[in-house]
Amino acid sequence: MSTAMPAIEHDIKDISLAPQGKKRIDWAEREMPVLRLIRERFGNEQPLKGVRLVACAHITTETANLARALQAGGAEALLIASNPLSTQDDVAASLVADCGIPVFAIKGESTDTYRRHVQTALEFGPDIIIDDGSDVVATMIKEKPELKNKIIGTTEETTTGIVRLEAMQAAGVLSFPSIAVNNAQTKHFFDNRYGTGQSTLDGVIRATNILLAGRTLVVVGYGWCGKGVALRGRGMGANVVVTEVDPIKAVEAVMDGFRVMPISEAASIGDIFITVTGNRHVIDRDHFAKMKDGALVANSGHFDLELNLVALRELSDEPTDVRPFVQEYKKKDGRRIMVLGEGRLINLAADEGHPASVMDMSFANQALSVEYLVKNKGKLDPGVHLLPPEVDQEIAGLKLKALGIAIDTLTSEQLEYMSSWETGT
Ligand code: ADE
Repeated sequence: MSTAMPAIEHDIKDISLAPQGKKRIDWAEREMPVLRLIRERFGNEQPLKGVRLVACAHITTETANLARALQAGGAEALLIASNPLSTQDDVAASLVADCGIPVFAIKGESTDTYRRHVQTALEFGPDIIIDDGSDVVATMIKEKPELKNKIIGTTEETTTGIVRLEAMQAAGVLSFPSIAVNNAQTKHFFDNRYGTGQSTLDGVIRATNILLAGRTLVVVGYGWCGKGVALRGRGMGANVVVTEVDPIKAVEAVMDGFRVMPISEAASIGDIFITVTGNRHVIDRDHFAKMKDGALVANSGHFDLELNLVALRELSDEPTDVRPFVQEYKKKDGRRIMVLGEGRLINLAADEGHPASVMDMSFANQALSVEYLVKNKGKLDPGVHLLPPEVDQEIAGLKLKALGIAIDTLTSEQLEYMSSWETGT
């Protein structure tokens, strides 16, 4: 293991953190058996030989294992952060020092640095882009459209990024295939629900050390992430209130046993607020104005626009740092609001993100999507695609096998019955 300054280009915090990063990456790998199998196969088959690949992702131990699998498959990868606060600096150092992968990511980087890193990624001239939030793809389309001709395809990790891709498709500017990794069942059923559920509460607890039991936890949004946060919040003894705009999701929350009400009502009763909607200003000026003294407010949606912090600033004195990742805003009425992680995704700002065991399936989807794009180069229509359902099944099957869990298979009699229509009452 070398911590000497490597020749490859990079912009990271401190290369001497590499040994610690390497140990943590190896630790995460133990919980990523599916990705490990893919890495071994990629090593033998080299399906990505000669492919230049940019990954814009949270630079975590799990992402490092994805990068190692892609590199084993022959890809020439470059990594940038998908969020200014989510980089694990020791992981970035190990990727550079131990794997020779160029990384441009520093925890706490400014928005300008973040944007500069996106430019660096585009200057790399990628054939494939792995995006998390669609910033690289959107920047390419807006600012460097000539690069589109070289693109084999892209993959997208989040719901937010897919919403943007669909908007690009509707506007007629998505001229290459893009795989909606988030929409694979082995991604959102697990990563969004159990990953976000656990890691969001872990982030809130690590930042504040509060007891959840007996507190009123307001979960804003009841998509897969909101379901996970509400479920785990209840498991820790919180009184969970859900707010929604979609009547179907609201009925689901009611029947899952949660109180449902508008955010304008929940604002005055909540002790802790967590936004997971993917939309802007879901906690707005009027809501902040109603909040109790000491209310904690955090976001676990992709972008930092779910909380209207500009409005909160206008209602308050200059915020002060009271703990790492906790800023106190004292309102003119004397009541204090605690904003966690500057409104950026709290599970990656104050915590390590989702545990490796769920990222195993998410990143198996990423690796297999990249392979699918390369194998089908020139054959896929432009636009947003799903990975074929049999790949989803294969990933779930491998996960079960790694967990040592066997399931049943249909008998030939059952198979025949399922494909017939004659037999009824
Ligand atoms: N998104 C959420 N958790 C993550 C993790 N641990 N690594 C990469 N991306 C993530």
